[in-house]
Amino acid sequence: MKVAVFSTHPFDRHFFDIANQAAGRPHDLTFFEARLDMQSAALAAGYRAICAFVNDRLDRPVLEALSEKGVRLLALRSAGFNHVDLKATQELGLTVARVPAYSPDAIAEHTVAMMLTLNRKTHKAYARVREGNFALDGLLGFDLRGRTVGIVGTGKIGLNVARIMRGFDCEVIAYDPYPDGAALAAVGGAYVGWNTLLARSDIISLHCPLTPQTRHMIDAAAIAAMKKDVMLINTSRGAVVDTRALVAGLKNGRIGYLGLDVYEEEEGLFFNDRSDQPIQDDLFARLLTFPNVLVTGHQAFFTKEALSAIADTTIANISAFESTGKPLHPVEEPSAAPS
Ligand code: NAI
Repeated sequence: MKVAVFSTHPFDRHFFDIANQAAGRPHDLTFFEARLDMQSAALAAGYRAICAFVNDRLDRPVLEALSEKGVRLLALRSAGFNHVDLKATQELGLTVARVPAYSPDAIAEHTVAMMLTLNRKTHKAYARVREGNFALDGLLGFDLRGRTVGIVGTGKIGLNVARIMRGFDCEVIAYDPYPDGAALAAVGGAYVGWNTLLARSDIISLHCPLTPQTRHMIDAAAIAAMKKDVMLINTSRGAVVDTRALVAGLKNGRIGYLGLDVYEEEEGLFFNDRSDQPIQDDLFARLLTFPNVLVTGHQAFFTKEALSAIADTTIANISAFESTGKPLHPVEEPSAAPS
């Protein structure tokens, strides 16, 4: 099948070429660097499928343009589908496929890397030592052992983070409106209510999808209910937190450490080298001025294993759609929409 692959980087091509060659009948893949939007949608003319990533635009106008050009399948190379207008895809008869799980370990391990970096300040120590500065002032950390870690969302990633943090001898508490008591107990955690999680956690880590219910779940009121000097980590989706409230919480000292792998307005910012351009987003620029903030550019998924699994599942989705009219992992339920 002819597939237009958007937002591609050399690493995507590498893993997709391997997965495609391994498929029985390879597909005709064209890699575009462009992010999918109203302008670049024209590139999809003549393709039956497009393959999109998290910051590609899949709103109604773009979907209508794709449909007019003959596209029938949207193969997402992400688990999240909060960026797709599913009402429009249903009305236009477009099939949506995704990669439900590729490597929860990759995201969980990056989450823990952010916790350790913020705590022990290895990013600052690295730069200091290379400049001949061996002073320890400003690098003081705390023992993780005995601290309370609050996990928000105990799905595939949240449970992995819980398991790893139990390995540090942390107490793990969690909040999820759809609890799986046996799974959490198996990794040594326990469910608590939302207010208890906020009040008791030394570290809060977000692993829920972006839905209307979770949008700005971490707002000024939630931050005010947290322990003073709390560490907050978000590797889920940017809009789960209200960034303005984060800045206020950092300024008044309630938030002692902040790790973000995702940002509300990351579309058009992340995944490209912009080092020669001024940052236009003043809120994002303000975040970067705090010494206790660590931002990574949506890289939690970025491991060899994850990229390989994403490519394999996406190719399998396209092959299944070509032969049966249904992908392996369809996105069918707008009401159930996880991100
Ligand atoms: P999952 O679907 O396995 O788990 C999500 C969990 O969140 C479920 O247990 C669900 O019940 C829970 N949840 C739903 N509403 C909630 C609420 N209001 N409060 C608390 N919990 C709630 O998803 P998975 O694979 O664990 O991924 C979690 C999120 O991580 C994804 O939705 C995605 O946004 C993000 N992600 C980020 C990546 C990155 O590179 N930074 C890569 C992959 C996923």
